[in-house]
Amino acid sequence: MRLKIRFFLFCFLLTSCLVVPAKLSAATPAASTPPMGWNSWNHFGHRVTDKTIRDTADAMVASGMRDAGYIYVNIDDTWEGERDAEGHLHPNDKFPDMKALADYVHSKGLKLGIYSSPGAKTCAGFEGSLGHEEMDAQDYAKWGIDYLKYDLCSYTKELREQAGNDPDKSAEVMQRVYTKMHDALAATGRPIVLSMCQYGWYAVWRWGTKSGGNLWRTTGDIQDNYLSMANIGFSQAGLSPFAAPGHWNDPDMLEVGNGGMKPMEYRTHMSLWAILAAPLLAGNDLSTMTDETKSILMNKEVIAIDQDKAGHQGDRVMSEGPLEVWMKPLADGSKAIAIFNRWTMPLTLDVPLAKFGFRNTPVSLHDVWEHKDLPAANGTYHAEVPPHGVVMLRATQR
Ligand code: GLA
Repeated sequence: MRLKIRFFLFCFLLTSCLVVPAKLSAATPAASTPPMGWNSWNHFGHRVTDKTIRDTADAMVASGMRDAGYIYVNIDDTWEGERDAEGHLHPNDKFPDMKALADYVHSKGLKLGIYSSPGAKTCAGFEGSLGHEEMDAQDYAKWGIDYLKYDLCSYTKELREQAGNDPDKSAEVMQRVYTKMHDALAATGRPIVLSMCQYGWYAVWRWGTKSGGNLWRTTGDIQDNYLSMANIGFSQAGLSPFAAPGHWNDPDMLEVGNGGMKPMEYRTHMSLWAILAAPLLAGNDLSTMTDETKSILMNKEVIAIDQDKAGHQGDRVMSEGPLEVWMKPLADGSKAIAIFNRWTMPLTLDVPLAKFGFRNTPVSLHDVWEHKDLPAANGTYHAEVPPHGVVMLRATQR
């Protein structure tokens, strides 16, 4: 009898061992590294059409963006048409057949994203999902959608009615609406990344994961100028504890290549987003990229820092007036270090390597923008940083 019990126990343990890894892999979170792709809003705004999306998918392949890791092609606001008698939302004339479009995007080895709001209306005044969450999620899944940006917009009205200006109640209300859409997406059985967009209100980073978000905007909208980008990017200090694989802080989409910043400022933008383990969603016209833009968006060494599998967000380790030094620990034990100069004139800085936990023995340095190894440093690294610029290194203790 005892032997039998032992035998059953053994079988039970054995099957659990065999079954658990399978279960774990089924539960592997979407967005285990920060999502990479493209979004229509920053460049095309209201002008996005089916053709824009197809052209972008083609350009993602032709330019090498797909192979560099940019996978999602995301339609932002203004695709929405009318609801029919049963309540199904149809795209407007700009998007004749969403399923055919998804098939096209998938045929290129890419994924398709879409946009909606928990409110009655989207930010651009189109039909939102209020009261139709389940039906919309089911329709997205039927079309073959892989990513949803869910933007608070007109739900602000309901939020105020239910919570006034009370921060805790407001956070609770928003958790409810985002969880509702998360559950509706999960019920479809199709893995669909949930991108929460509510501008960082009420410290979303504290409860974004609980609401089922794979990423959440931490700020208002970015604009294509240095001040906007720098205000957003550098204000992310202190948010690193809230990011982890599957759940990312989102300081908004990239403006690289849209023309409002100098090449060095776009380098700063890309470097800061990589240190932040931010989602990398290009926002430019991919069919007309200059070589300069390509070299920034497709810098493999910078992308590797953003996409590092340990999934740590970097943070600020020191600042001196307009100089800021940020560090992101990487899976192989090395550290990504970015020294930023927010001033309009060149500046130098002697960076003490002990700040990053290095011992007082040589540290190997590799410059990820110049693509070259630098002389090993001992004790300090002397940085020369251009105006509004950055020096970005991968540093390894010898
Ligand atoms: C909000 C969002 C933007 C964009 C627009 C679309 O402003 O923050 O990213 O999606 O709505 O209307």
